[in-house]
Amino acid sequence: MSEIYQLQDVTKTYMVGKVPVDALNGLSLSIREGEFAALQGPSGSGKSTLLNVVGLIEKPTRGSILFRGADVTGAKEGVLTDLRQRYIGFIFQSFNLIPVLSALENVEYALYLEQRYSRGEVRERAMRAIQDVGLERFATHRPAELSGGQRQRVAIARALVKDPRIIIADEPTANLDSKTAAQILELVRNLKEKLNTTILVATHDKAIADMAERIIKIKDGRIDEN
Ligand SMILES: Nc1ncnc2c1ncn2[C@@H]1O[C@H](COP(=O)(O)OP(=O)(O)O)[C@@H](O)[C@H]1O
Ligand SMILES: [Mg+2]
Repeated sequence: MSEIYQLQDVTKTYMVGKVPVDALNGLSLSIREGEFAALQGPSGSGKSTLLNVVGLIEKPTRGSILFRGADVTGAKEGVLTDLRQRYIGFIFQSFNLIPVLSALENVEYALYLEQRYSRGEVRERAMRAIQDVGLERFATHRPAELSGGQRQRVAIARALVKDPRIIIADEPTANLDSKTAAQILELVRNLKEKLNTTILVATHDKAIADMAERIIKIKDGRIDEN
């Protein structure tokens, strides 16, 4: 298996007023293509920051990051945006859906941004993703007309519709009750088996950790154990 990420000595420093805070502190990590890894660590240990760096949303302050073998450490914003849109699917704890769009339109929107498909292809792919997450009867509903679990399904469909190489999820079940969370997990597991996407998920949820092939532990902005 080849490596989708190689992070070397990554530091991410935020300035809080005049005080520097090292959210990541000399962190090195490799992630293989197709791997399902759970990221665990106490609150404030740097999980979200690491996901943002791996998701090419935030640039490291120091250190280097290779994505699919290419050094993207100093890449321009436009290049990073293209890579994100093409290869990376995000699932957030708070779903981040667009309230005025229907479930189907939220999924379509992710594909429009990529400008790779015709209108017809966009609709067809989005509908398939909506079906994959079991929401065909709710395709025209807006987020406010959906339950928490259904919203998270829309968010999963939106991440998957691009056929990403990696799915990055930040505590995806934290806002769901345990039964709904279990259903979402089952869905992610099935999709993972079908698509062989790399998954990196930050979670406190034991059920997700049990399902993962690898546990990555982070503490004070460094890898603790993995
Ligand atoms: N945008 C930011 N500005 C300032 N400090 C931040 C910012 N994001 C995160 N931090 C700080 O970095 C550390 C790691 O945060 P985070 O990555 O959110 O941890 P986790 O997701 O594990 O709870 C914390 O001390 C947090 O306060
Ligand atoms: Mg976090």
